[in-house]
Amino acid sequence: MKHLLSLEKLPRADFEKILRAAAVFKRERGHHKTQPLAGQTWALMFSKSSTRTRVSFEVGIHELGGRPMFLNANDIQLGRGEPIKDTARVLGRMIHGAVIRTFAQSDVEEFARFSGVPTINALTDDEHPCQIIADIFTFQEKRGPIAGKTVAFIGDGACNVANSWIWMAAKFGFELRIAAPKKFQPSAALLKRAGGKISVSNDIQATAKGADLLYTDVWISMGKEAEAKERIKILTGYQINQSLVNLAKPGALVMHCLPAYRGKEIDDATLEANADTIFEEAENRLHVQKAILNWVVS
Ligand code: CP
Ligand code: NVA
Repeated sequence: MKHLLSLEKLPRADFEKILRAAAVFKRERGHHKTQPLAGQTWALMFSKSSTRTRVSFEVGIHELGGRPMFLNANDIQLGRGEPIKDTARVLGRMIHGAVIRTFAQSDVEEFARFSGVPTINALTDDEHPCQIIADIFTFQEKRGPIAGKTVAFIGDGACNVANSWIWMAAKFGFELRIAAPKKFQPSAALLKRAGGKISVSNDIQATAKGADLLYTDVWISMGKEAEAKERIKILTGYQINQSLVNLAKPGALVMHCLPAYRGKEIDDATLEANADTIFEEAENRLHVQKAILNWVVS
């Protein structure tokens, strides 16, 4: 049985399969014959808010012949303290697969272990695997192979999205530069485990210089709201704006996983100037989710 819980252990060949399938699903949207989820019910169990991930999975499951069932974690007994392993054993007897958005990475892993059904990580505090697969898909669609290119991640370098980029650098052979204040830099242990060409600094100009892709994410991830004031204070300045774009390679892409907080991690003019790319990146979540679902059940 396959799961998508973390990018760390997924072989490059599986990513390639997913990326190839995503291109086909995109091209053939509305008339593809593949219905790998026919007759299946998939639960989306979410403990955090979502627009893109929820909608892309709900639509994707439907378009692959299955039925999505959205479960707000607070509406089920899980929210009142029923253990994840009991929830998993109950759902596993009724559903065919699960897409989970939660806090602890260990909860997604425990769900996969106890449910006995394919389980997909739709974001935890540690990782956002589906997002980064869609990001790489988007980059490659516009600029060709990401191998040998330079990705500059600006902002909270210790968040789930940054972590998932970190796992991809060695696998895909691109250079990853992270610009973040000391407090929000990835740990040395994580970088060592990931390998690849990754550098971390607090110099955002040097990080952006000559980059093929400037990428950012929110300063205050879900679950970190209590730290909002401190984060804004420390992260101010770690913003993608026109003067940073001017340092990147001419024609560099600007991407954002969204939702965006204008005036914080990106300014309004830069987001709007790159809206075609950023909203296509969001659309690609749908095509990539279908490819992930198809891969997980194949
Ligand atoms: N990028 C992303 O995962 O967006 P949502 O939180 O809206 O799902
Ligand atoms: N790092 C963000 C990503 C949102 C899609 C968060 O966890 O809130």
